[in-house]
Amino acid sequence: MSIVTPGTFASYMVSLTFLFGPVKRLADVNVDLQRGIAAAESVFKLTDLDSEQDNGTYTAERVDGDIEFSHVGFRYSSAKEAALVDIKLDIKAGETVAFVGRSGSGKSTLLHLLPRLYEVGEGSITLDGHDIRDFKLENLRSHIAFVGQDVVLFNDTVAHNIAYGSMRDADISQIEQAASSAYADEFIRELKHGYQTIVGERGLMLSGGQRQRIAIARALLANAPVLILDEATSALDTESERFIQSSLEALMKNRTTLVIAHRLSTIENADKIVVLDAGKIVETGTHQQLLDINGQYAVLHQMQFENQA
Ligand SMILES: Nc1ncnc2c1ncn2[C@@H]1O[C@H](COP(=O)(O)OP(=O)(O)O)[C@@H](O)[C@H]1O
Ligand SMILES: [Mg+2]
Repeated sequence: MSIVTPGTFASYMVSLTFLFGPVKRLADVNVDLQRGIAAAESVFKLTDLDSEQDNGTYTAERVDGDIEFSHVGFRYSSAKEAALVDIKLDIKAGETVAFVGRSGSGKSTLLHLLPRLYEVGEGSITLDGHDIRDFKLENLRSHIAFVGQDVVLFNDTVAHNIAYGSMRDADISQIEQAASSAYADEFIRELKHGYQTIVGERGLMLSGGQRQRIAIARALLANAPVLILDEATSALDTESERFIQSSLEALMKNRTTLVIAHRLSTIENADKIVVLDAGKIVETGTHQQLLDINGQYAVLHQMQFENQA
């Protein structure tokens, strides 16, 4: 699980490339080999993009987090087929929207458009009624916390890994508060040097679940009104799973959350579930509504249920 905090996307991508390039990534015991390769490739694709367009002038101190996708289409420049076709979606501030669908259906692409990691091809996306292209890029991204699947910890203290980017000057009580809400405080205190323990590349290796909780603490501290969450699929032990579930719930509270959901509990409690297939929205509704129509979601749900049972 990796995270990008306010205004740090560019430096994040750079650090990812230099600190967590393919070789080091493969050496990381917590990173699944195949996914490690895939992630490294997509990072290179992102950093290979020409200088980002940043022509917007609008800035907001804080947004509510209303998001609207209007006839959004997108095709990767190297691809023949569109990755997203005519996406229409209205998300109210504070809602949790879960995206489900087969691998390759367009979930990640859709979520990457919001912080403008890729530019919308057709149609538009608005945040609080303003086209995301009208925002200054750094300002747009300052409203969005991004928690991905690969945990990126820097070779630094636990405290600095939580207070990252623009939160660098946060004081230790704020850091502890965030860690505590992320159910990370207890294990951090048990480390040899507590919050001052060096973790990451050359420091102590933490378990997958511990790294995820640090990433969640980072997002809590950054306190962005919009959260993009790519839930980890990796099997965690039951104890970690329980803690992570609780810390994710704390993180999602009072934020607009767009989540690529794998956990049944996340999906079932979402305000809205969007089912994607081949770049199109094929079903939208609550868990119960989608079960009732007995379509693709019902099938996916049955499969997940059997896997997790
Ligand atoms: N960087 C890329 N370049 C070209 N095609 C891509 C890239 N990333 C994803 N795709 C393609 O776009 C489609 C949607 O992918 P993605 O959004 O990753 O789906 P999901 O997250 O649902 O698995 C797939 O056909 C995938 O192969
Ligand atoms: Mg994906």
